[in-house]
Amino acid sequence: MILDLSAALGLLALAPITVNASPAITKNCIELLVPVPVNATNIEYDIPRVYDTISAVNWAVNVTTWSNKNYTERIIQNITISQTFKIHAKLCVPSVSTSKSSTLQILTAGNGFDKRYWDVSVEPSKYNYIDAAISKGYPVLAYDKLGCGKSDKPDGYTMVQVPSEVEVLASLTRIIRSGKLLSVSNILSNIKSTELLNKFNIKPKKVLQIGHSYGSVLIQALLAKYGDELADGAILTGFLVSSQATVNNVAHFDHDYAAESDPSRFGSYGPGYIVLVKATLQKLFFRGTSAGFEKKLLDYTEKIKQPETVGVYGSEGTLSFTPAAGYSGPVMIMAGEFDYPLCNGDCKGAYQADYTMGLFPAGTNNYTFHLVPETGHALTLAKSAAATAQKMLDYLEENKL
Ligand SMILES: *[C@@H]1O[C@H](CO)[C@@H](O)[C@H](O)[C@H]1NC(C)=O
Ligand SMILES: *[C@@H]1O[C@H](CO)[C@@H](O)[C@H](O)[C@H]1NC(C)=O
Ligand SMILES: *[C@@H]1O[C@H](CO)[C@@H](O)[C@H](O)[C@H]1NC(C)=O
Ligand SMILES: *[C@@H]1O[C@H](CO)[C@@H](O)[C@H](O)[C@H]1NC(C)=O
Ligand SMILES: *[C@@H]1O[C@H](CO)[C@@H](O)[C@H](O)[C@H]1NC(C)=O
Repeated sequence: MILDLSAALGLLALAPITVNASPAITKNCIELLVPVPVNATNIEYDIPRVYDTISAVNWAVNVTTWSNKNYTERIIQNITISQTFKIHAKLCVPSVSTSKSSTLQILTAGNGFDKRYWDVSVEPSKYNYIDAAISKGYPVLAYDKLGCGKSDKPDGYTMVQVPSEVEVLASLTRIIRSGKLLSVSNILSNIKSTELLNKFNIKPKKVLQIGHSYGSVLIQALLAKYGDELADGAILTGFLVSSQATVNNVAHFDHDYAAESDPSRFGSYGPGYIVLVKATLQKLFFRGTSAGFEKKLLDYTEKIKQPETVGVYGSEGTLSFTPAAGYSGPVMIMAGEFDYPLCNGDCKGAYQADYTMGLFPAGTNNYTFHLVPETGHALTLAKSAAATAQKMLDYLEENKL
């Protein structure tokens, strides 16, 4: 108590002397349920039904057995989706007006993660990417992808797939660009001050698409389809094309049936939703032991993990990795040096730079690639997280974003 008081007094006493230092930027956040209208063409596949733990394992074996049909051969028909989904988003704005106040970062997490991948509650000063971006003055919006977190969880076979998730991000970005995010959304936070509420009512001049893993894949597809319309800059983390990328298929990563594995957390998820087991989280996302990650971050990952749909795995076959010819902004690509799912454990020498660069062919792209040392797939959860965030923010600064 005495210590706290003297610390507070110390701060007060120092305040007048530090007038020249830039004021510490803190964040104000609001939670929103955004109605996102989506038109998309998904696919119905002939794949085994998944409704308990036994059928979940059977599905993984069935779709990876070499002599079975591949996903292209399993296509039954197209599914046309024209629907409005409720997407849960957290918008944070810096406490003071900054030179970045009208450059909004949109964060898309990977498969099996919701927005908490970016919003880590363990030692936030080290691991929380939203805090790092806010400290540089950027407003940030992180959202739960369709089928996870507090967003809608529609049919796990046909509704939650790559095409519909790309359109969710596209439609959400259009709403943000139009400046209507706050007016169309259901505001979940209890914010009484009109002055504070107005701080969230922004119409960004620039939008940056930042992703991790499957989220980066969605962004690449978004840029290929919509180009400069929906992004002024992009950072794709946990993303690269490697000669080892197809070595580990879904059967290398153990999934349980979501609703059965933890009814209190995932009881509301229906058929077709699976979730990674803890040992697999370590295998997939982390590198080494003491050098690469802290155990408490593995525990945090287990706590925040989210179900995935079998539909997403099928629809990865729809990814054409079409070059984003209509996107002319800068692109930073980042991956952990020892990424297991992307590089079968070692990205050195496996990275196919020419191919990956070829995905962003527009002349003015300022393409850069960074391999994060001593790090696995989950960049915000590794010991290197703070340095990684710094690299990303430096890149944006250097590119006048
Ligand atoms: C979806 O398609 C309908 C019919 O073509 C159109 O009226 C509507 O604007 C589209 N919605 C979106 C979000 O593109
Ligand atoms: C694999 O799944 C397909 C589609 O459900 C089914 O036709 C086939 O019999 C399954 N094969 C095995 C070996 O379970
Ligand atoms: C799927 O199988 C068909 C027929 O064997 C083959 O032509 C096609 O290339 C395969 N597709 C993929 C993505 O492997
Ligand atoms: C399914 O949709 C794709 C585009 O998403 C289209 O190229 C294809 O022709 C469609 N197939 C059928 C049978 O309608
Ligand atoms: C390209 O990015 C690098 C940082 O990676 C930066 O130093 C450089 O100024 C950028 N070039 C342009 C033309 O913005």
